[in-house]
Order: sequence, then structure tokens, then C-alpha cells
Amino acid sequence: MSSNNFELKNPESGLTTSLPVRSGTIGPAVLDISNLNRDHGVFSYDPAFAVTASCDSKITYIDGDAGVLLYRGYPVEQLAEKSSFMEVAYLLMYGDLPDATQLQEFSGSIGRHTMINESLLRFFNGFHHDAHPMAMVSAVVASMSAFYHDSTDIHNPRHREIFSHRIVAKLPTIAAAAHKHSLGQPFIYPRNDLDYCSNMLSMFFAVPCESYTVDPIAAKALDLLFILHADHEQNASTSTVRLAGSTGANPYAAISSGVAALWGPAHGGANEAVLAMLEQIGRVENIPKYLGMVKDKSSHFRLMGFGHRIYKNFDPRAKIIRDMCHQVLAKLGRNDNPLFELALKLEDIALKDEYFVSRKLYPNVDFYSGIIYSALGIPRSMYTVMFAIARTVGWVAHWLEMISDPNMRISRPRQLYTGPVRRDYVPAAQRKTLQEA
Ligand code: ACO
Repeated sequence: MSSNNFELKNPESGLTTSLPVRSGTIGPAVLDISNLNRDHGVFSYDPAFAVTASCDSKITYIDGDAGVLLYRGYPVEQLAEKSSFMEVAYLLMYGDLPDATQLQEFSGSIGRHTMINESLLRFFNGFHHDAHPMAMVSAVVASMSAFYHDSTDIHNPRHREIFSHRIVAKLPTIAAAAHKHSLGQPFIYPRNDLDYCSNMLSMFFAVPCESYTVDPIAAKALDLLFILHADHEQNASTSTVRLAGSTGANPYAAISSGVAALWGPAHGGANEAVLAMLEQIGRVENIPKYLGMVKDKSSHFRLMGFGHRIYKNFDPRAKIIRDMCHQVLAKLGRNDNPLFELALKLEDIALKDEYFVSRKLYPNVDFYSGIIYSALGIPRSMYTVMFAIARTVGWVAHWLEMISDPNMRISRPRQLYTGPVRRDYVPAAQRKTLQEA
């Protein structure tokens, strides 16, 4: 790390001050304003945190202009091609790729933590059959905070590790229970003889009255999607987990807050919204009409799965998933998928349209992921849950990094107050309505 200084002049006093500029290993430098208020009596103002680095992190690096994504330094393209989700989970959580023994021990530990407490399973009965699975998953993950009192001392590194294995292992089980509850089918217990994604497919699609064989093509496709969704530095849900966790909150509750933040259509909920949008557009001939609606701001219509706060170029994950759609649909014998054809055409037309070109709006990770989930038979309301399963690894990695930092403090943004100035209380009988005043 190197540092130099940035000169800032106070227009009122004319005094000049020096603010340190800090550089990371790669990427733009940051201006360290942590002493701005103490030294100058002002705060910085950055709604939506568009230009604010909230922490130091060694986990994930994004160059949005170049379309680069690195997990612990490794390009996501290489990991997608050569690695597995379990290996990537280890990499994100522990900092380095595991050797063969470490991978076996880690996968074994995740495998041994897949069951959920039977009492927790009964929570699902409290939900209506048509409850959105993200609501169920968020509630049940938060409820896990009531179960592991013996092992959630956040200051104990071994407790932190047990928590991290438990949550990564149990998320697919909770997701599958939500799915089975929606269908009214009996819950299928996890199978520890299967790998992470095969077990998930088994819990989703097996029924007690028939034998079920996992399709290896489906398991491989899911594994790849999970690698691509595993982490994305300080996105809204990860920042939510960090913020909740910074209070010393129970880590299961902190992860639950991440699930809730992910659900929004501007974030992970976009994968579900993309499929709804493609169905709404319906046919290639209708694309110009919908692009017209995008340009009419009063319509509030956006192309879901397009645009990103950081990427002003192709989201590298979207490129991989688009290629994967061709392969997976062909292998599953579903290459005549009309929604995929429509999505390809929509991308093609939008990328030539001045509106999208001038705003640097490209397809993001969610534009094509729903097409693969749908080909795997996963219902639309479960798409964001799939995202949550993969991103749990990233949330855990960030929570671990934050909690083990000796300089961790509670996160607490400031504000620019624009409300009424001080005024005195008037008893109700003496108050005048606005019209009378
Ligand atoms: N369709 C149409 N116009 C868009 C879109 C879109 N998908 N995204 C951005 N724009 C326009 C905005 O209207 C704005 O135009 P203006 O300058 O004329 O007002 C301009 O592009 C900049 O957009 P902002 O909303 O300021 O960009 P921001 O960085 O705040 O938002 C976001 C990023 C939320 C992802 C946005 O692009 C969006 O809503 N996309 C659709 C939802 C989506 O796909 N979300 C998933 C993101 S990936 C993830 O979280 C996993």
C-alpha cells in the first residue's frame, strides 16, 4: 500500500488541508476522509454510496470499465472453467484455494451440516402455500439465530468457523423446504453422499415414492451458476450483512438481512423480473414498443437484467451465462427455447440503441440466469433463492473478514438534515391546521 496526499481548500477560512490518498493493490485510489469532521467540521455527502469505499477488503475485485471480476485475485472466467463451487467457497472464506486434503475436509464438513433442526422445519407450516420463498428463507434463516446458542460467540474463531459451515450447508436445505412447502409435497432430507449441487437438486425434485437420479448436466450447470454468483464485493446485500453484523448482531440474523436486501428487483430479484419481462414482451416484433417505454421515464419501465452500478461494460458473468445457455439448453434438448431467442434479440437491439449505448447499459448477471434455472425446472419464484444460496458464501466471507478485523467499529452513516428547524410543542387544542394558518 502506498499513500500520498490530496490538498483541500476551505473556501470560508481559506485554509488548506491535506487528506491522505490510499492505494490498494489494484484499482483506483481512495481519499481517506475519516478525519474530515474532526479537522474541518463537515461531513462528505454521497447518496447511494456511489463513490464511497466503506471498508478495506481482500476478497473480490471488480474493474467495471474493463469488465473484470477477480475472486481473491483469480479471474472469474478461470474459476468458472476449471473450479467447483465448493473450491470457490473455500477460496472466498479462507483466502486461498484449498489443497486436495483441505477441499475434502471442507466439503465433508459442509456435507455433515446439511440437516436442519426438526423444530425449524415445522416453522414452514406457519406460511401460506403461496408465500414467496424469499420471505420464508429470510424468516427461517433469521430463526436459526435461536438455535445455536452454544456456538455463536462472534469473538471465538472456532465458533465463527462452525457458523460459516452451518449456514453454507443449510441454505440449500432451507430453500428446498420452502419449495416443497409451496408444492405441498413432503420434505426430502439431504443426502450427504451427493455433492453440494446434486444434493440440492435431489432435495428439490425427489419425492419419497420414487427413486430419483440427479442429472449431472443439471448439477454442473447449477455449480457454474453458483460460482458466478458467489461474491461481488460491497453490493447492497453484502453491505447490509456487514452493517447488521457490525453491531455485533447474531450472524444468522445478519445473513437474513442480506437475504432480504437481495430480494429487491434492483438487485437479486432481477432474475425473476427478467423472465416476467420477457413474457410480457412476448415477441420480437414487440421489442421496439418496450424500448420506447424505457425512454419514456413516466412509464417507470426498465429493461430488467440490464445496467449495473459498477459495470459500464459487459458484466463478465453475463457473457459466461449467455454461452452457458447455448450449451445447457442443447445438452438438455431444449435449444428451441423461445424466451432465450427473445432475450438474445433484445440484447442485440438494445446494444445498438443510442439510449443504452450513451448510458453504458449492458446485460448483467441476471439477464440470462433465469433461462437456465427455468430449463432446470426450477420455478420462477425460486430464482432469487438460488442466488441467495450462492451469495451466502460471499456474505459469510465478508462477515468473517469484518469481524476478525481488530479495528472493526459499528457502521453508522451520517446525513444532510433538511427537516424543520427547532420548534416548540403546541397542545393539540391550540394547533391550527395548515389551511387556517
Ligand atoms: N433500463 C433502462 N434504463 C436504465 C436501466 C435499465 N435497466 N438501468 C439504468 N437505466 C438508466 C437510468 O434511467 C438512468 O438514466 P437517466 O440518466 O436518463 O436518468 C441511467 O441509466 C443511470 O441509471 P441509475 O439508475 O442512476 O443507475 P444505478 O447505478 O443507480 O442503478 C441498477 C443500477 C439498479 C442495476 C439499474 O441499472 C437497474 O435498475 N437495472 C435493472 C434491474 C437489474 O437488472 N438489477 C440487477 C443488477 S445486478 C445485481 O444486483 C445482481
